[in-house]
Order: sequence, then C-alpha cells, then structure tokens
Amino acid sequence: MTANELRRSYIDFFTARGHAEIPSASLIPENDPSVLFTTAGMHPLVPYLLGEGHPAGNRLCDCQKCLRTDDIDEVGDASHLTFFEMLGNWSLGDYFKRESITLSHELLTKALGIPQEKISVTVFAGEGEIPPDAESPAVWEELGYPAERIFAFGIKENFWSMAGAGPCGPDTEIFYDTGKEPCSAECSPACNCGKYVEIWNNVFMEYYRAADGALSPLERKNVDTGLGLERVLCLLNGKQSVFETELFAPLLEEITALTGAQYADGSSVASGAQQRAFRIIADHLRAAVFILGDDKAVQPSNVDQGYILRRLIRRAYRYLSNMNAPDGAMVTLARTIVALYKEAYPELERNAEFICEKLEREEKAFRKALEHGLKKAEKFLAALPEGGVLPAEQAFKLYDTFGFPVEFTQELTAERGFSVDMDGFRELFAEHQAKSREGAAQKFKGGLADSGDATTRLHTATHLLGAALRQVLSDDVRQRGSNITPERLRFDFSFERKMTPEEVAEAEMLVNQAIGAAIPVVCTELTVDEARESGAIGVFGDRYGERVKVYSIGDVSKEICGGPHAANTAELGHFVIKQETSSSAGVRRIKAVLE
Ligand code: ALA
Repeated sequence: MTANELRRSYIDFFTARGHAEIPSASLIPENDPSVLFTTAGMHPLVPYLLGEGHPAGNRLCDCQKCLRTDDIDEVGDASHLTFFEMLGNWSLGDYFKRESITLSHELLTKALGIPQEKISVTVFAGEGEIPPDAESPAVWEELGYPAERIFAFGIKENFWSMAGAGPCGPDTEIFYDTGKEPCSAECSPACNCGKYVEIWNNVFMEYYRAADGALSPLERKNVDTGLGLERVLCLLNGKQSVFETELFAPLLEEITALTGAQYADGSSVASGAQQRAFRIIADHLRAAVFILGDDKAVQPSNVDQGYILRRLIRRAYRYLSNMNAPDGAMVTLARTIVALYKEAYPELERNAEFICEKLEREEKAFRKALEHGLKKAEKFLAALPEGGVLPAEQAFKLYDTFGFPVEFTQELTAERGFSVDMDGFRELFAEHQAKSREGAAQKFKGGLADSGDATTRLHTATHLLGAALRQVLSDDVRQRGSNITPERLRFDFSFERKMTPEEVAEAEMLVNQAIGAAIPVVCTELTVDEARESGAIGVFGDRYGERVKVYSIGDVSKEICGGPHAANTAELGHFVIKQETSSSAGVRRIKAVLE
C-alpha cells in the first residue's frame, strides 16, 4: 500500500461512517502562542473540543501535518520523527469509548488487514483522583484481545493532555508487535526497546486541565484519535523502519548518489552511526521543507519557529558535510521531498522556490562558519583527556569567533565521549552580551569622524553609490573602505579594471535618480542572522545573536551600518563623481561630492 492509498483508505473508512473530512491545518498554529508548531491533529480543533459547534458536524476526520521536537534526540532509530503526518478522527459529543475502539479495530484488522494477533493495547489504570477506565479493556476483550495483550498504566502512559491548559483525558493506545524478542521479563508497550511500536492513540476527552493543573469535567465528552501514518505505512509494507518506506527511500538513495556513502550494504545495514546520519538528514530536511513550504513563510532566524528551522537545517547540513556532500545537496534533496509530497500537500510545490532559496542561503551562511570552526574544535578536543570536559572559554571561542551554535559543540563533544562546561558557557555568554551592548553603543557613536549634516548626507550617498556600482558593474562589487569629510566622500570598492566614462556616468545618474525619488532612509535593528536573511549587505561578524542596525533605502539599498544617515534621499542635493582611480590591486577608488 502506498502513502496516498493509506491516507485515502483512512479517510474513506471514516467518511463512510459519517465523518466529515476536514483539510490539514497549517503547521504553524493560528492564535496559539503557547506552542511553535501544530503537534497533533486535535490542536487546531481545541475550541470545538471545548464545546463550540464545528461547521462540518460532530464527526470529523483528517490527515494533519505535525511537528514535535521533544523526540529530536530519538531520531535515527526505526520509528521516531520530528515531522510526521497524523491521521485522526473525532467525535465531538457523539460516540465515545465503545464505538471509538470498535472503529479502530475494524480499520486496522479489516480495512488494512493487520493480523489481530500482532496488536497489543494499553488502557488507563486510574491514578490519584482519576478513576480507572473499566470500559475500554472490556471492549477490547469483547473484540477478541486476550487479557495478556491488554496492559494498564497510570497517568504517565495513559492520560493524554496538551503541553498547556486544554481538553484531556484517559486514553487507550494501540501498539504493533514487531516480533522482536522481549527485552526483559517486564517488557511491555511502555518500554522503549522497539518490540512494541505505538501506532494509534484514542483519547477520551472528558476533562479540562487548567493552567494550574486542576482538572474539571467537560460538559461534553469527546474522542480524539491520532494514527501515525509513517509507522503504519512501515508495518503494512513489512519494512524495518519508517525510513525504508516510499516516503524516505528515494531520499536515502539520493544521499548515496550525492555522497557515495552507503545506507545499507546489501542485506546487512552499514555502520549504525552512518545509518543514523542518513536518517537524521532525511528527517530534518523533510521537516525543514514542510516548515518552509507552509504558506506562513517562516524562514531561518534566531527566534521561535525560525530557530527550530535553523537548527534542523544546520544539523542536516553538518551530517551531509561529514559525508562530503557537494554544495547545494540540501536543495537537491528538498526538490525530491517536494516531488514526493506535492500531491498530498500542494503548498510545497507552490512554495518550492522559496524553500530552495532559503535552504541555499542558510547553507552558504553556515558552511563558512563550519569550515573554520571544526578545525579549531578538533584541536581543542585533541587536548582533552578521555571523558574530559571542554572548558567554557573554548566553547565560547567556538561560538564567538567561529559562529558555532553551542548545541553543535555539545553534540560534537558528546560524540567523542566529552562534555561541555555549560554553566561556565552561560556565564561567559551573559558577560559577552552585556559588553557587546556597550560596545555597540560606542561604535555607533564613533562611526563617522564628524556627524555634521554634510558628512551625514555624504554617508547616505555612499550607500547609493555602492548600490549603483553593483548595478552598473557587477553584483560582486563590495565596499573596501570609505572616508568621509564634510567636503567629499571617498569610496574604495572591489573591481578589477578601470571604469569606462559611460559606466561612471551611469552610476552617477543612478544615484541622482534615487535622490530625485525622495526615498525615506529607514533604520531597523536586527540580529546578524536576521540581517543576512533579509538580504542586507555589509560586514557580517561571526557573532551569532549580535544585534546590528540595518539601513534600507527603498529597494535600492540595504546595508548593515552604524549610521547616521539622512532621513530622506531628497536631502542630498546633486551627486557628482569627481574621480575614479586605482587604490590597490583589485580595488578602485571613487571621490565624489554633493553639490
Ligand atoms: N492527541 C492525541 C495524540 O497526539 C491523539 O496522541
């Protein structure tokens, strides 16, 4: 059975039983600042689970895009993923335990043909004030499940609630027995050894949990279920792991094509670490493509969803670069992911260019940082005794000088059996932040020798000139130096040859055009990464999280710069280039005035 067929079978099964199909909501929750991503099918349905009427009725079903980062360290085993698809069905005050369990049993054993003897279930045993669920085990038994495959647990295993306040209740969870030997006499679905894989969770929502943890009964009892599409696809096709299903196999092959590395060697699997790396790359890039491909247009940054996205991309990149993947490998893989999913999620194709552009940009930014940082890190690690702790100063150096996110340093060190002095790191980080705030204030004050009106206007003119040169000569033109007095500006830039008189005239004309257009000069404060994301040019330090000013002049120019600047280009007057000469090898110099 293919993924498309599985989605269809599930939806057809439930629509034939009176459920209305609703579309997948965005991966970025609407009106819910408490979580960054949609983590379950019920998430967009909270108001309805709390009593509001749903326009489509009181029986619903869907296939929802979900993302959870709590299991990120587990990714690489046979079944854990960050992004996944959750097939769900809901009863809003309609049927309850008996019908819900019966529907699940019928779908699994009849519609999908999973042998009943491969299925084990768990139920709520009761804990504290909350009474045990006596009905669910009784229904399972009636359906032919022997008592030894019905396990009862407390709140931790069998009471489901969202991260914050919200509807919640006892659940019954359905597990597939992979046939592996039990890991111990106590082996059960509650254990993580891989014998039992959770495939479906049926939550009987009869309580509301307030922010302080207090439970109160809901007026209307609901059913909320979630079936893991990738896991069911895996077992239906007799695969060893979700990564060998059609949803990932083409990606694994592509990683091999790009790097020459092997995921599996004939029938036996290549080294565990390498296989894990393949899986992490595939999982993280798939998650990144779905975040970028959502119509909400989230992009890598240092905050919120953008930060999770950045971590996913950078972690995938690091594993790819360890395998010597060529530049642009992430984009190649992203295109494969879009192709795999465009039928079920057309937004990916709609946003394909956005996805690729952001991945490419993030790759370039991170490649540089890694090249230098990894060498330094190796040096530090080589000096550590077995099981040693990387001193905070060294972790900080990797962060400060080489732009190394501390999570990477932690991961790198852990791989060799070392750890990082994180308390010390946090202290240094706090100190550094206080210092760089002071320093930034100083720098912005001292950016120009004299910030009179004349120099301020000439300073704005240099930004217009830089933009004009990039337009007339080449995108690669970069500022190499600048010196401004109240009388004139001097601007050094990278370029190989003397400009022609026509080029000089054209650059001058472009600057005067921008002045004539009376464009406001707008200053925003961003982190270095956000500035880079926004397409600003200028000198990027390697310091992640440092805040900089970005001056934008309409769509003509956007530069990291300390200022100050004129408020509007109209203040500049008439721009004249007086001279274009050589400054040094590969660097030209322009002197210009405002008349
Ligand atoms: N909301 C339930 C879960 O996420 C179905 O497991």
